[in-house]
This record gives sequence, C-alpha cells and structure tokens, in this order.
Amino acid sequence: MTLIAELERAAAGFTAALAGAASAAEVESLRNAVLGRKGELAALMSRLPELPADERPAFGKAANAAKERLNRLLEERLAAFKAQVDGASLSRFDPSMPGRMPERGSLHPVTLVMEELCRILNNLGFETVDGPEAETDFHNFEALNFPADHPARDMQDTLFLGDGLLMRTHTSPMQVRAMLERKKPPVAVIAPGKVYRRDYDLTHSPMFHQVEGLLVDDGVNLAHLRGVLTHLLRELFGPDVALYFRPSFFPFTEPSVEVDMSCVICRGSGRKGGEDGCRVCKGTGRLEILGAGMVDPAVFAAVGFDPSCTGFAFGLGVERVAMLKYGIDDLRLFFENDLRFLGRFVK
Ligand code: DAH
Repeated sequence: MTLIAELERAAAGFTAALAGAASAAEVESLRNAVLGRKGELAALMSRLPELPADERPAFGKAANAAKERLNRLLEERLAAFKAQVDGASLSRFDPSMPGRMPERGSLHPVTLVMEELCRILNNLGFETVDGPEAETDFHNFEALNFPADHPARDMQDTLFLGDGLLMRTHTSPMQVRAMLERKKPPVAVIAPGKVYRRDYDLTHSPMFHQVEGLLVDDGVNLAHLRGVLTHLLRELFGPDVALYFRPSFFPFTEPSVEVDMSCVICRGSGRKGGEDGCRVCKGTGRLEILGAGMVDPAVFAAVGFDPSCTGFAFGLGVERVAMLKYGIDDLRLFFENDLRFLGRFVK
C-alpha cells in the first residue's frame, strides 16, 4: 500500500472512531493515539524518506491537511460532549431551591468576657496596655518583690525558657512595664492577656487569661479599690452582687486581699432549690474571684517611683469569670475547639 493510501486509511479510521467515541475522555485518548507526538500520523510522517524525492512535497501537504481536518473534527466532538454535560447540569438546576446559608463564626467566650471587662474598666478611665508573653525574670518576679530563690516563687509553677526568659505566669509584669514607661504617676492601666503555668487538670490549664489593673495616683486607698471592683463585678454579674475582702498575701501588694463575691447561682444563700447545698459555691454562698491589694513600696522602688506613692492593683482570671457568667463547669471546654460549645456564644 502506498504511503498516501495508508494516510487515508488512518484518517478514515480516526473519523470512524471519533464518531463512535462515547465520552470526552475517549476522544482525548484518540487524540493521543492518532495525532499525538508518538501517534499514527507522526509515524507515517517519519517514513517520508521512503518516498522518491518528487513525491515528498505532495505527501507532506496531504499529511498536514489531514492533520488539520482531524484536529477540527476532534475539537467539534469535544465541544459536543461539553454542551451535553452543561445541558444536563442545567436541567438539574432548580432556581426555587433555598440557598445554603454560610455558617457564621462567633467570638470565643473568653474573648467576649475579656472585651466586656476591658469595656467596663476603659469607661472608668483605665487605658488598655499590651506586652510580651515571653517575659524577663526581672519583670515577672524580681521587680514584683519576688527575690531570687524566695519561696513565694513556688506559688507559680513557671515555664522557664532559659537565658533569663520565662513564659509570664501572670499579667502583673505589665504593672512594672507600665510604670517604667510612664516614669511617674498618675498611672491607670489594664493589661488583658495570656499567662502560662506548668499545670494541667480539671480546673487548671497551662495557658489561661488574666486581666490586670493598676492605679497609681495621689491618695489612692483600699476604699477606691473596693469601689472599682464593686462596680466591675456588678456590671458583670448584676446589681445585687456583694463583695468580701479577705486578707491574703502577694509579694507585690501590702496589704493584699483576696476578693470573694456572693454566689451568682444561689445569690449568697449557700442553698439551691430546697435544702441542697449549692454546688457552685459548695454551700458557702461565696465565690473566690480575684486577687488584689495596695502596691508594695518595694515595687515602686524597683521601677524608680517614689516609694511613698499610693496605688492599688488587681488581677483576675478571665476563664473563671466566664465559667461563672455562663454556668460552665469544665475549664477544658474553652480549649477543645468544639463548635457545638463555641457556637452557643453568638453575641
Ligand atoms: N498576679 C496574681 C496571680 O496571678 C494575681 C494578683 C494578685 C494580681 C494581687 C494583682 C494583685 O495585681 O494585686 O496569682
């Protein structure tokens, strides 16, 4: 058979196969087999040297024409398949079907509470400040009157990073940073943020959140502290909340207090529904809510303030407030990222 006849046969075979192809994928595999770089047409072209020199131009021309024609046929066939698919999906399109609502995210309950705490305190004139979570020993301990090797450091199971750095165990180092930055009174700041302890169980997480408050000014006393905290807790939990100050100890305050408030569940009665003791306050009617006190003169000295300055400070755990506010009894829920839990706190 002459080369030209072989070419015609190949073209006819391709045309027939194309007509019988059942899918776009089959068309594509025909493209490879016939028109591809190693396909039938290429193989025939490579045999050009077999022809006498005067027949070569005519064969070359015929081969190119065949290639063009076959390509066109193939594209037409592909287009037909595509139109079929589009037609089919169009016929399944139901314009009356209700749309799918995109799922809306919501703020984390800890964020919600932190924002509310800041809003209340900002309204009283406290400015929000921010600082590093990897803190120096100086800011986290030394300047807060925790001398090196002092047993008071045992109160906080610290994650040390080496080179004098550690993960801050509380937001209190922001007191030091704020006073160093302002250089002299008055200072009225709050510092919300993450803190870290080497601790993990039902009620402790290695990372949690605190809000620190500091007011330094002329003639600040414990009654001012009580006023601010009463306002804060009543805004958060309602106007009936009562506050109780208990003597306590923190190295950076003197005197130091722990503040309890009347239980938000049993309203301070210690009972809930009949004679059963209230589970949340364990029948005491009170909830421990935060630590506070008057700034110790040693802290003023460490930041270059006159040690006879007056000021108060307080620090409160945000998760603790969120648990009481939303009635959550397992701290771990905050950190498990379960959307069924987190989705309950849409504003
Ligand atoms: N930093 C303390 C802690 O994490 C809490 C605290 C207590 C902060 C008394 C204060 C304060 O500012 O005056 O346990």
